[in-house]
Amino acid sequence: MSKTLLILTGHSKGLGRAILDHYLSMDQVDVIAISRTALSITHPRLTQKDLDLSDLSVLQQELDSIFPSEEFENYLLINNAGWIGEVKAIGELDPKELRQQVNLNLLAPMFLTNAFIKKYKSNSVKKVICNISSGAATRPVSGWGGYCSTKAALAMFTMVADRDNKTESFHFYSLAPGIVDTTMQDEIRQADVKDFPELEKFKSFKEKGELTAPALVAEKIGYLLGNPERFPEVIQDVRNFELP
Ligand SMILES: NC(=O)c1ccc[n+]([C@@H]2O[C@H](COP(=O)([O-])OP(=O)(O)OC[C@H]3O[C@@H](n4cnc5c(N)ncnc54)[C@H](OP(=O)(O)O)[C@@H]3O)[C@@H](O)[C@H]2O)c1
Repeated sequence: MSKTLLILTGHSKGLGRAILDHYLSMDQVDVIAISRTALSITHPRLTQKDLDLSDLSVLQQELDSIFPSEEFENYLLINNAGWIGEVKAIGELDPKELRQQVNLNLLAPMFLTNAFIKKYKSNSVKKVICNISSGAATRPVSGWGGYCSTKAALAMFTMVADRDNKTESFHFYSLAPGIVDTTMQDEIRQADVKDFPELEKFKSFKEKGELTAPALVAEKIGYLLGNPERFPEVIQDVRNFELP
C-alpha cells in the first residue's frame, strides 16, 4: 500500500486544521504539522512542531530536521500558514508587522519549498508542492497591501519552481481556496471601514452563509493533490472544479 508523507503548515486552526483532519482520516499518510500552537491531540501518524514561521533564523536552523530521510511513496508539502496582516492603507503600515507578514506568507514557504525540493529531488516518486494562494494574489484589495503582495509573489515563485523542476515526478500548485469560514475571515470583519472599503461585502458573505466550510475546501485540496495528472496548470482555484 502506498505511504505518503505530508508536511503541512498552519495546522492548528482554520483551513489547515481541516486539511490535517482530512489526511489523518486516510490510511497510510504520515503528517508533520507546523504552527505556533500545538494541538492537544495525539495520533500515531502525526508529529507536531511548534515553530513561529515568521522567525526565519529559527526556521533556517530547523529546516534540515523538518524533512525526514525515511522513504515514502509520495511526498506532499502544503504551505498553508498565512496572515491577513494589518488591514490598513499603504503609508500607514507598521514596518515590524509588515516584516513579520512577509516572513510568514512569503519567505517561510519559499524556504520550505526550496528545502523540500533539495531533500527529495533525487527520489523518483511523486512529489506535490501546494502553496496556498488567494484571489488577492491577482486582485489589488485596498487595505490588504502586504497580503496581496505576498500572495502574488508566492504564486510567481511557485510558477518558477515548476519551470526549474520540470520532471514527471514534481507537481507544483498555487491554489486559491475561495472564501473560507475561518479565523482569518473573523479578523477581516473586525477591520475599520475607513481602512477597508470592502468591509460590508465581507460582512455580508458571513451573514448570507456564503463562506465555504473548511472541511469542503480540504476535501477538494485532497482531491486535486491526489490527482495531479487531471490538474496540469500551476495556478488553481478550488472554485473551478467540483468533487466527482
Ligand atoms: N479564510 C479565507 O477566506 C482565505 C481565503 C484565501 C486564502 N486563504 C489562505 O488560506 C490559508 C489558511 O488561512 P485560514 O483562513 O485558515 O487562517 P487562520 O484561521 O487564521 O489560520 C492560520 C494558520 O496559520 C498558522 N500561523 C499563523 N501565524 C503563524 C506563524 N507565525 N508561524 C506558524 N504558523 C502560523 C496559525 O497557527 P498558530 O496561530 O497556532 O501559529 C493557523 O494554524 C492562508 O494562507 C490564507 O492566506 C484563506
